[in-house]
Amino acid sequence: MTVYLDHAATSPLRPEVLAAYTEALQLVGNPSAIHSAGQAARATLEDARERLAAVIRCDRNEVIFTSGGTESNNLAIKGLFAKREGNLIITSAAEHHAVLDAIEYLEKEGAEVHWLSMSSEGVIDLVELSGVLEDRHQDVALVALMWVNNETGVITPIAEVTALAAKYGIPVHSDGVAAFGHTETNFANSGLATMAVTAHKLGGPVGTGALIVSRATNLVPLFHGGGQERALRAGTMDAAGAIAFAVAAETPQPDYRALEALAVQLISPLGKLTRGAAPGVPNILSFTFEGGSGESMLFLLDQAEIAVSNGSACTAGVARASHVLLAMGFSQTEASSAIRISFGPQTTAEDLNALAEALPNVVATARKI
Ligand SMILES: Cc1ncc(COP(=O)(O)O)c(C=O)c1O
Repeated sequence: MTVYLDHAATSPLRPEVLAAYTEALQLVGNPSAIHSAGQAARATLEDARERLAAVIRCDRNEVIFTSGGTESNNLAIKGLFAKREGNLIITSAAEHHAVLDAIEYLEKEGAEVHWLSMSSEGVIDLVELSGVLEDRHQDVALVALMWVNNETGVITPIAEVTALAAKYGIPVHSDGVAAFGHTETNFANSGLATMAVTAHKLGGPVGTGALIVSRATNLVPLFHGGGQERALRAGTMDAAGAIAFAVAAETPQPDYRALEALAVQLISPLGKLTRGAAPGVPNILSFTFEGGSGESMLFLLDQAEIAVSNGSACTAGVARASHVLLAMGFSQTEASSAIRISFGPQTTAEDLNALAEALPNVVATARKI
């Protein structure tokens, strides 16, 4: 049986989620229809909104259902930029491509971008952020910084970021996809304008996510159509996906700290933990293995029926050095030698022992390729 250590790419549907999802998939009505079938679907959707909001700690009206993290990030970044006063976006080169590529698109459309530097352990330079905000606050349209990095697991001190931006009334967007469910993400206390979340990293279905939009925030929508979701996300709402997301969010994740400690203990003799001593979530760990290619190791581990990832699986199967590790100052070779492991509710110590048993040969072989 495959040892699955790639939950940060996507995590299997949890049993409670599957039950709620399959039941809700039998709903026939469109939530916008006024007949009883439509109203039944609407009730499910609104129940999901309420329950998700309770977990996220936001107002139910602040939940805008979308198709996932990519759409939510695009909606936030392009939507905030369209309402901008300034033209400058402050972000970091270690963001997920859903953020990076949206910002690079805006750059081609005339936005100016300030790429914040980070430490070799993946921590954003808050002094630099403070300086740019002080010098250029009149030009700044938004700040976009992810809450947890999906490759290294490093946690960004979002409250400190929003406190700096709040001095000048600048909106902050955070990609909360890797954070939600794995570290405290209390939206009401966060000071964020917007936060992107997605269901499939928590045992919910792929294709369902949300953008949390604070009541004080104005966005321009990406899609125009039926005016659904406060006119921010046109398109028939997916009541079944929404309720499945709410159930996944309500089902707590196990405490992964013991697995984290075991993984570090087992793997450290062979590879280097990329986040060093920086604060991180316990369910995502990445290691570099000097002289071996992450891609080769991934294939060799796959032959041993162990599923891991090298960098982000979201780069559509394209093998390249991790842009996250490059942003942290790793060399091209080092940044190509990484493997990420990530845990879910099904992960056991035996899974990690199986990985540790396979790794010495895998690393030795990869170093010869
Ligand atoms: C940090 C982060 N942001 C955004 C996404 C994209 O989310 P989705 O797959 O729901 O579009 C991912 C997926 O890997 C991610 O890890």
